[in-house]
Amino acid sequence: MNIPLTEQLQYHNGQLHMEASNITSLATEYPTPFYCYSQARLLDNIRRCQAAFTPRGIAVHYAMKANSNMHILSLISDQGLGADTVSGGEIQRAVSAGFPPERIIFSGVGKSAAEIRQALEVGIGQFNVESAEELMRLASLAETANQPVRVALRVNPDVAVDTHRHITTGTKGNKFGIEPAQALKLFREYASHPRLRLSGLAMHIGSQICDATPYRQALSRLLSLVSTLKYEGITISHLDLGGGFGIDYGNGNSLSFEDAARTIAETLASEAPDYTGDVVVEPGRSIIADAGILVTTVNYVKQAEPRPFLILDAAMNDLMRPALYQAEHPLIPAHRRGPSATEQFDVVGPVCESTDTFSRNTPLDNAPQAGDIMAFLCAGAYCSVMSSGYNSRDITAELLIGQGQATLIRRRITQADLMQFEQ
Ligand code: LLP
Repeated sequence: MNIPLTEQLQYHNGQLHMEASNITSLATEYPTPFYCYSQARLLDNIRRCQAAFTPRGIAVHYAMKANSNMHILSLISDQGLGADTVSGGEIQRAVSAGFPPERIIFSGVGKSAAEIRQALEVGIGQFNVESAEELMRLASLAETANQPVRVALRVNPDVAVDTHRHITTGTKGNKFGIEPAQALKLFREYASHPRLRLSGLAMHIGSQICDATPYRQALSRLLSLVSTLKYEGITISHLDLGGGFGIDYGNGNSLSFEDAARTIAETLASEAPDYTGDVVVEPGRSIIADAGILVTTVNYVKQAEPRPFLILDAAMNDLMRPALYQAEHPLIPAHRRGPSATEQFDVVGPVCESTDTFSRNTPLDNAPQAGDIMAFLCAGAYCSVMSSGYNSRDITAELLIGQGQATLIRRRITQADLMQFEQ
């Protein structure tokens, strides 16, 4: 495994720094574990993303499920991105963080009536509908809306994607999306609905996809639906192509914004040269993942057979991806002692479950010792947002490094905080 360091995360004299902040020093100021994000890296990712998509006429909506910290969201909305949301809570956060309602898309397979009402009141830009049943519910709730409600149908294009089976979404048998034939029927049925403006098609084929081919195939299927609809007099003016662009977790594979944007633009140019509507993508992970790390302390190096355990103070409740998807996040020391032999460890947390294992047979150098500060890399997306308080552990703090200083953007949520909500 390579160590995917970034320009903003580097060793200086053996000490790991995020921008100008020394991680070891931060860990003396803030108790570990904590998440730490680089503002410069986040902004750089957004810049590269916009540079690839904007000139090709493709708008970017941040999929905020990847990281919905309010401070992070305001930085992202300040850069002019829209938001992709999947719950009433995300809509509330998006609006508070300054995303203009018309640039908020509401996706998700199980929107409740209360969430739909909330989205209608806020006046969000588009509902991505995932079933006939949802469309019916939306139509009846939209009766009292004072403006037409823009709707896209999320189609399941049934393409194979090479990623973890738990994060593929665009193949038959997934709960997501509508089959193209059924979408066609719904378009006919709702074409002249007085309140709903059914004018879009959406797709999202999965996450952590490192090859552009499935985007080409899926978009191609969407475009053949666009032309069938056109033949019937129904015009599609909004295409939402989802997110999923893979990042390098250390195995060298990723899908750059540039490659994704080029593939989408080429497919559109060759298969739908007269399409003049909007095109949107919804990246989440690729915007924030490599801007974040999880800083942790080695609690013990437990000698055992067949290998020693490295027992950290971070656990599966703080970083769930390894337990849930067998995901590997590279682990590196905050202070390099100098050349040393590489040893194999099983890296675990203190939670009382065998699943609380970050990795097995992990080669680590630097002769780890109790008290060492270490960092899990690429932990900006789907990490803090998926954390819990299992085992009555505190919920991890989040720091942002930017403009030469560290700012606490979420304080640690302690047991005293949590106990207040219980009788
Ligand atoms: N749009 C829709 C409709 C989505 O469902 C998702 C992610 C995205 C956009 C953003 O995809 P991204 O660009 O972040 O890959 N917890 C998992 C990932 C679940 C992704 C769910 N949907 C993980 O930790 O890998």
